[in-house]
Amino acid sequence: MTLLLVSCFGDKSKTVFSPKVEDYVALSKTILSVSVIADSLDVPWDVQYNHYDSSLYFTEIKGAISRLDLATGKRKQLFVIPEVYHHRTLGLLGMALHPDFKAYPYVYVSYTTKYQDSIYSRLERFTYKKDTLTNPKVLLEIEGSTGHNGARLAFSKNGKLLWATGDVDSPTHAQDSTTLNGKILRIEWDGSVPIDNPIQGSYVYAWGFRNMQGLTVSDRGYVYTSEHGDAIEDEVNIIEPLRNYGWPVIEGKHDLPAEIAYAKQKNTKEPMRSWTPVIAPAGLAYYNSDQIPEWKNALLLTTLKSQSLRVLKLDESGKKIISEEIFFENHYGRLRTLTVSPSGDIYLATSNRDWNPQAGFPKTGDDKILRINRVAKALKTPLKGRLVTGTKEAVKTGTALYNAYCVSCHKGDGAGLGQVFPALKNSTKVNGDKAGLINLFLNGSVKPGKTEQMPAFNFLSDEDAASILSYIRKSWGNHSLAITPADIKKYRK
Ligand code: HEC
Repeated sequence: MTLLLVSCFGDKSKTVFSPKVEDYVALSKTILSVSVIADSLDVPWDVQYNHYDSSLYFTEIKGAISRLDLATGKRKQLFVIPEVYHHRTLGLLGMALHPDFKAYPYVYVSYTTKYQDSIYSRLERFTYKKDTLTNPKVLLEIEGSTGHNGARLAFSKNGKLLWATGDVDSPTHAQDSTTLNGKILRIEWDGSVPIDNPIQGSYVYAWGFRNMQGLTVSDRGYVYTSEHGDAIEDEVNIIEPLRNYGWPVIEGKHDLPAEIAYAKQKNTKEPMRSWTPVIAPAGLAYYNSDQIPEWKNALLLTTLKSQSLRVLKLDESGKKIISEEIFFENHYGRLRTLTVSPSGDIYLATSNRDWNPQAGFPKTGDDKILRINRVAKALKTPLKGRLVTGTKEAVKTGTALYNAYCVSCHKGDGAGLGQVFPALKNSTKVNGDKAGLINLFLNGSVKPGKTEQMPAFNFLSDEDAASILSYIRKSWGNHSLAITPADIKKYRK
C-alpha cells in the first residue's frame, strides 16, 4: 500500500535520482520528507517547475538561469544575462515559463539593469533551445532604483503575463495609476497590451503596492501577492482589477481614522492578512494537491526575516485566510521562494548568501533547493509546525522587542552590517542624550540619496519604546541610563 502511495504521488516514479533526506515533518496525518536537490547556489531567486519536461528552472540573483533535471538530478547553467546589474537586492529576480512551453519554449525574466547612470527594471523573454537560451527580446522596461524593484512574474489562468513591480521608493508612483511602478501589470505573451485590460491601452491592472515579493495564481484563477511593509504591516493580498491597495497612504488593515477616510474615497482593498512585527514575506504558491491533504487549498509563503514556511489555509471561497501554521522556524535560514509541481511536490529555495544573512548563516552547502514530499514514515524525529493563535504575537520584554523589530538590520550582537546598518554597540547616538535617540527612534531617518533608512517606530506604545531603548542602552557593553515611558511621551509629536 505504502509503496503505491509513494509512486503515484511524488515525481519520483521514474526517478533514478534519490537525494539524501535532511528532515522529516509530521502533520496531523501525513509525514513529509525534506531533501536537498541542489546546493552551493548563489541566492536562487525564483524557481519554476516545467510541466513539459519535469525539470526545475531557476534564476540566481547575479544573472544565471539554470535547469535541473528532476529525473537525474543533473543541473545545467543555460545562460548568464550580461546586462544584469546586481547590488544588494537588485539583480535577476522573478521568472515565468510560458504555460504551453512545448509550443512556445519561452522563459520570461525580470531583472535590474543600469546604463547611462540610471537603473531600470526590465522584462525580457528568451527562447529555450538545446540547453541554452536564445533570441533575447526586451518586452518592457520601467524605472528602477537602488531598492524596491519587486519583482515577480506569473501567468494568469487565461494566459496573460502578470508582472508585480516595486514602487522604486517613490512617494507618488504607487498611488498614480498612470505609471508602471508599484503595480500589477497585465501583459500579452508578446509584450503588447491585452485588448481586454481594464484600462484601455494600459498595462496597469491594480495599484498601491510597495514592494511585492510573491505572486501566485490559484486553480480557479485568483491572483495572490505577498508584499513587504515598511517597519510595520507586511501583507498578503488577493488581486482584483482596478483596485487600490493603499500604499503609501494606507498600511495593512484600514483601521486608523486617516486610512478609513482615504479608503472611502478610493477603490481600496484590505489585505487578507497583515503582520506586525514584520516577517519579510517572499515567495508565494497556491497549494491544492491531494498529496498533502492538510495543506490543500492553502497559500504557502516563504519568509526571509522570520526564516520560515507559513501555511495559510484558505476558506471555501478562496478569499479568506482561516489559519496560519509556521514550519522550519530558524531551521534552514532565510527562505526566498517556492514552487509546486502538478503532483504536489514542493520546491523551496534558501537565501542565506544574500545581502542580509541572519546569525549562523550561510552554512556549508548554502544556498540550497529543497524538495518536500510525502513519505510513509519518518526515519528520525520529525519537525513540527506551530499554529499561530491571534493576529498579533505578544512580545513585551526588551530582548523580544529588539528581536522582533530591530535584529534584522542591527543584528543580535548589535554590530550592525558594514556600511549599511550602523552598530548600536558603542554608538554615541545610542549612549548619548535621550532627545536625539528618542527622536530618531520615533521619526526614523530620511536621508535623501541613502537607500537604507532607519524606519519610524512611532506606532509602538510608550512602554514598548522605552523597553527597547533601555535594552539597547544596556546591551553589548553599553552602560547608559534607562529610558522611561515618560521620556518617550515627552518627545512624541
Ligand atoms: C530596516 C532596517 C532597520 C531596522 C529594522 C532598524 N533600523 Fe535602526 N537604523 C537603520 C539605518 C539604515 C540607520 C542609519 C540611519 C542613518 O544614518 O540615516 C539606523 C540607525 C539607528 C540608530 C543610530 C545609530 C548610530 O550610531 O548612528 C539607532 C540608535 C537605531 N538605528 C536603533 C534602532 C532600533 C532600536 C531599532 C528597532 C526598534 C531599529 N533601529 C530598527 C536601519 C534599521
